[in-house]
Amino acid sequence: HGPDALTQDLTGRRVVISAGGTREPLDPVRYLGNRSSGKQGRSLARVAAARGADVVLVAANVELPAPFGVRVVPVGTAEELRTAMLAEAAGADVVVMAAAVADFRPAASAPTKLKKGSAGEPTSVPLVRNPDVLAELVTKRAPGQLVVGFAAETGDDAGDVLTHARAKLARKNCDVLVVNDVSAGQVFGRAENAVIVLAADGSAVEVPRGSKDAVAAGIWTTVVPRLAASSP
Ligand code: CTP
Ligand code: CA
Repeated sequence: HGPDALTQDLTGRRVVISAGGTREPLDPVRYLGNRSSGKQGRSLARVAAARGADVVLVAANVELPAPFGVRVVPVGTAEELRTAMLAEAAGADVVVMAAAVADFRPAASAPTKLKKGSAGEPTSVPLVRNPDVLAELVTKRAPGQLVVGFAAETGDDAGDVLTHARAKLARKNCDVLVVNDVSAGQVFGRAENAVIVLAADGSAVEVPRGSKDAVAAGIWTTVVPRLAASSP
């Protein structure tokens, strides 16, 4: 029997969550993007607010209404998401990177629409790396601040989902990594989800398949005991 709607275990906590997927412009009308709907991050924000937290949702292209009681900061690109997250993370008890941040962006965005048949008709798109926002949040975190990352993994010849996830947790150096098994290829935009919550101390907690709100509740129940004791 887990916490119910009356659970207020995040009262007095400041929570900052990124959600959605960044879009990296190619020209004024086109972008490189991804399939993240922002639903899981939005559920984390909604549930945290319901459990008493003061919540900021940095929403990258999330086409859903703001959850009740949540302050939404809309962003488009990875660079905008980085700026918003670094600003909002100051003073937060927990920072959650649920957004799908584009690893690369077009090296340049054309100032005017790319046209067929023009002299400069493109045949390829040069890319550059985007900043790793999670890595930067980890480096810059205040003492006691908990940093939570997300990872969508598939098993392959090099290892199963958990092997890849543990390696990513170690590489990213965050406190908690929420792992989605996307081997079956059916998470994005779906109403349901299931995750494993890995912590830097080696623990792994399975949150069973359920609505994204139910999974969000399971994630918070796992994360709350890891928050630093509240200041007196
Ligand atoms: N992330 C980030 N900034 C980036 C890329 C990823 O903050 N430029 C964050 C994501 O929000 C997520 C975590 O890092 O919380 C893991 O993202 P993932 O794409 O799984 O990790 P990568 O290090 O980009 O590894 P991969 O090469 O597998 O994509
Ligand atoms: Ca990535």
